[in-house]
Amino acid sequence: MLLLDKGKMAKCVKDSKVIENYTMRLTSVDELRAVAELQAYVYEQLPNKQVLYMDSYEEMLKDIESGAKIIGVFNETDELIAYRHIGFPGKDVRNLGYDITMPEIELEKVVHLETTVVHPDYRGNGLQSLTLQHAVSMVKVLGYRHLLCTVSPQNLFSLYNIMKNGLKIKALKRKYGTDEMKSDGLWRFILHRDLEMSAYRSPIEFFTSKLNDLEEQKDLIENGYIGYWMLMEKRMLNYVRFNETAAQH
Ligand SMILES: CC(C)(COP(=O)(O)OP(=O)(O)OC[C@H]1O[C@@H](n2cnc3c(N)ncnc32)[C@H](O)[C@@H]1OP(=O)(O)O)[C@@H](O)C(=O)NCCC(=O)NCCS
Repeated sequence: MLLLDKGKMAKCVKDSKVIENYTMRLTSVDELRAVAELQAYVYEQLPNKQVLYMDSYEEMLKDIESGAKIIGVFNETDELIAYRHIGFPGKDVRNLGYDITMPEIELEKVVHLETTVVHPDYRGNGLQSLTLQHAVSMVKVLGYRHLLCTVSPQNLFSLYNIMKNGLKIKALKRKYGTDEMKSDGLWRFILHRDLEMSAYRSPIEFFTSKLNDLEEQKDLIENGYIGYWMLMEKRMLNYVRFNETAAQH
């Protein structure tokens, strides 16, 4: 299996840290049970279950059979301690491009950054960012252009990491609900990064909003603002509006 990366990371053992080697590589279908088990373990430990929408083993298998990839991070004893699931939705209705009214022609170039989890003992090594950076290199080679993902407004760590890697908030809506309007769904930001974005435009307006003020943020987005940067300590988000006539950000 192709090695994507290797190095050293810190593991929390009681109140101290020990240094271990890690390897990063694509997982095989045979390792999908370990992926599902890690997801279930991480979910069980979460104080706020709203932040992670669980994929079943069967859903992940179906996704992999239609081309999705899972980047796995393994510790010294070759146990899976983190993973990132990457999907290629094509024109499927689940394509998040529809949520940000992406032009039809771009939908085939969309990559979904699906679930990422890191075992609690190995957090703080920047593995969410590192796996994202490897995913970017991989999908660029495959000719994809748009990264899209959903993040809960309550998922501070994930939102910060995703925005730090250049994805911007383009929509805020309920997702994963049972009815057509998703009225019982979970609140999610939809974030986007265009990997081919080259033109730079000057922003024309700025607004800072509290992370938990969803109504204000929905209004901002409806009025053409994009969530640009997160102020982690203050729990605030910077929104920016650009000149409508220039190229998309
Ligand atoms: C989101 C997540 C993948 C980030 O893990 P990570 O890449 O190891 O995080 P980072 O290396 O960026 O961590 C930065 C700091 O935040 C802390 N941190 C990260 N996630 C944390 C969490 N869920 N709870 C408390 N602290 C956390 C780290 O310990 C580290 O602290 P330090 O700077 O004092 O060492 C991980 O928290 C996780 O698995 N969460 C549950 C699943 C989830 O929400 N996934 C994203 C949605 S699909």
